[in-house]
Amino acid sequence: MIKTLEWTDAGVRFIDQTKLPTEETYVTCKTYEEVADAIRTMVVRGAPAIGVAAAMGVALGVRDSKAIDHGELKRDFDRICDALASTRPTAVNLFWAIRRMKNKFDAISAQPVANIQRSLIAEAQQMLVEDIATNQAMGKHGAVLLPASGSILTHCNAGALCACGYGTALGVIRAAVESGKKLHVFADETRPFLQGSRLTAWELMKDGIPTTVISDNMAGAIMRQGKIAAVIVGADRIAANGDVANKIGTYTVAILAKEHGIPFYVAAPFSTIDLNTPDGSQIPIEQRSAREVTHMAGKQITPDGVMVENPAFDVTPHHYVSAIITERGILREPYTETLSASMRVNT
Ligand code: MRU
Repeated sequence: MIKTLEWTDAGVRFIDQTKLPTEETYVTCKTYEEVADAIRTMVVRGAPAIGVAAAMGVALGVRDSKAIDHGELKRDFDRICDALASTRPTAVNLFWAIRRMKNKFDAISAQPVANIQRSLIAEAQQMLVEDIATNQAMGKHGAVLLPASGSILTHCNAGALCACGYGTALGVIRAAVESGKKLHVFADETRPFLQGSRLTAWELMKDGIPTTVISDNMAGAIMRQGKIAAVIVGADRIAANGDVANKIGTYTVAILAKEHGIPFYVAAPFSTIDLNTPDGSQIPIEQRSAREVTHMAGKQITPDGVMVENPAFDVTPHHYVSAIITERGILREPYTETLSASMRVNT
């Protein structure tokens, strides 16, 4: 099983996703600042993974705090949480995870400093275990939506690497294959960071799931040829009305799917659902550096001085989403009702 991240006594250990698929190397972040940097620079990326990474960063920072009383520890804790919360704005799992660490801190704040430190490490480790179980549950629920055989299109990487293992959208594909379905995956390359060609293709090939990489602009033609039975993607934030923020290009894929009568599924845990954000227009969209667009593998591919836009995510309006697959089951329109009802049951 791919270990996206893990807690070690030396620090938080990540597979370096910027080096895949040609190098499988690992980095150990020894301070919370190094964890924040790893999130910012995409050594670790993907909504659930950066949530758990942030929680482990908090645990690491608190473990190494020199605080001798609760007041000092709380000041350190707040500073560490703020630093990790400022790394990436879109995936709500990051803020969900930091909130969970804050709740834990508050619940045990009367205890001695050493106990608080130990409990926060345990909480972060527990989040990793729960994430894998959540993905497996999503897989079980979602697998029934996929056909007995055929090709599934996915965008970005919503696999083991975006989470702590198994994956969200790719978890559903994995579960379907494990149940005997004969699936082939078209992986959108996912310009500019190439999460599809570098990461999705890498992990699916490791699992022996037949995979074809296509450039993003090929998806429409392939759908028109009748080659795609379903689209499945992950999400970085789902607003209360069901609008879905996910990797830039997802919106285009959703429109293409609707035009061709292909179901468009989103697989996401409850930690991705944000009922405090009423609709997709309120979701903050991260802008990343122009260099991701102007350069490829270190080589400049655009003229000097050209203007560039690089939003990392887009928003797919809820009416394009055929179903949202969660760890508790499948949700459908009207999402304003089904999302809030399922969140009420689960809190
Ligand atoms: O910029 P990234 O690579 O962190 O973006 C990741 C995605 O958009 C994934 O599709 C998303 O996190 C869903 S996987 C749970």
